[in-house]
Amino acid sequence: MANKTWLITGTSTGFGRSLATLLAQKTDLNLVATARHTDQLDYLDQYDHGQIQKLTLDVTDQAQIKDVVKAVKDRFGTIDVLVNNAGLGYFGTFEESDRDAVRYMFDVNVWGLVDMTRAVLPIMRQQRNGIIVNFSSIAGLFSFPTTSFYHGTKYAVEGLSESLAKEVGELGIKVMLIEPSGFRTDWAGRSSQKAMPAIDDYAEFKGSIEWNEQTAHHEDGDPDKAAEIIYDQVTNHADTLPLRLPLGKFATDMAIDKYTKTLADFKQLHDLSASADQPEK
Ligand SMILES: NC(=O)c1ccc[n+]([C@@H]2O[C@H](COP(=O)([O-])OP(=O)(O)OC[C@H]3O[C@@H](n4cnc5c(N)ncnc54)[C@H](OP(=O)(O)O)[C@@H]3O)[C@@H](O)[C@H]2O)c1
Repeated sequence: MANKTWLITGTSTGFGRSLATLLAQKTDLNLVATARHTDQLDYLDQYDHGQIQKLTLDVTDQAQIKDVVKAVKDRFGTIDVLVNNAGLGYFGTFEESDRDAVRYMFDVNVWGLVDMTRAVLPIMRQQRNGIIVNFSSIAGLFSFPTTSFYHGTKYAVEGLSESLAKEVGELGIKVMLIEPSGFRTDWAGRSSQKAMPAIDDYAEFKGSIEWNEQTAHHEDGDPDKAAEIIYDQVTNHADTLPLRLPLGKFATDMAIDKYTKTLADFKQLHDLSASADQPEK
């Protein structure tokens, strides 16, 4: 059987690097590791370059996306697994967050993922086969203060992915959302801008932004273990791939708690909600 080709965005650090490192050691697949600066991919040099392609990719650059997809097709002929991992964070209150900065975060977290996926879908549709792994977050299911815009990006990823999964399922293409809680990557550090509250009414939230800064690189989650789980799901459980995969104890506990409470609320409101329809004919 021909090698499967994996294409990953944002492999310089964090989850992307852990996954690329794991895949680079597999002899039965092709790895396309992309990054804004490929000199940050030297960690792959020790592995077999017959099966590894390193490419420059900023996911906000549509021309680069096109070039990358063409280069992969030319070299390996297929793209079987797309991992939309590249992403940023932003800490600040809803009212005080910098508009340009959070718009850019939407460009990376949402539009970068959309443009990558749209560029790869024609290949997967032609193959009648493919898996798209989209990095959401527990922040795509549950919201905290001071990360409203980050939640906005990840809830968008959730909605887009859920709908896409229903459109392409019959074409042999599956979508899996990864929903991690805090993992030891660069996300809460260099990959997240912070806007400290300047308005007195929001002063109480300074502490939580500082806490996130101080605890960066001390999170519970291990990105290498996440990479193993993602690889195993895609490789050995493709037929039963979950649409949503929370990762980390906090993520799975929060997801269950949120849906349990939401379900109870919806049940309690059921008759009131249903009463808004036109009378039955
Ligand atoms: N760590 C967590 O606790 C956590 C939890 C839930 C979800 N996530 C999600 O996990 C994903 C990966 O983040 P991480 O935790 O691994 O953080 P990370 O170590 O900071 O990695 C982020 C990656 O995204 C890349 N990136 C940023 N902007 C990009 C762009 N415009 N084009 C291409 N690549 C770009 C970065 O590249 P550069 O080196 O060039 O900056 C880096 O490789 C993100 O989508 C994040 O939202 C993280």
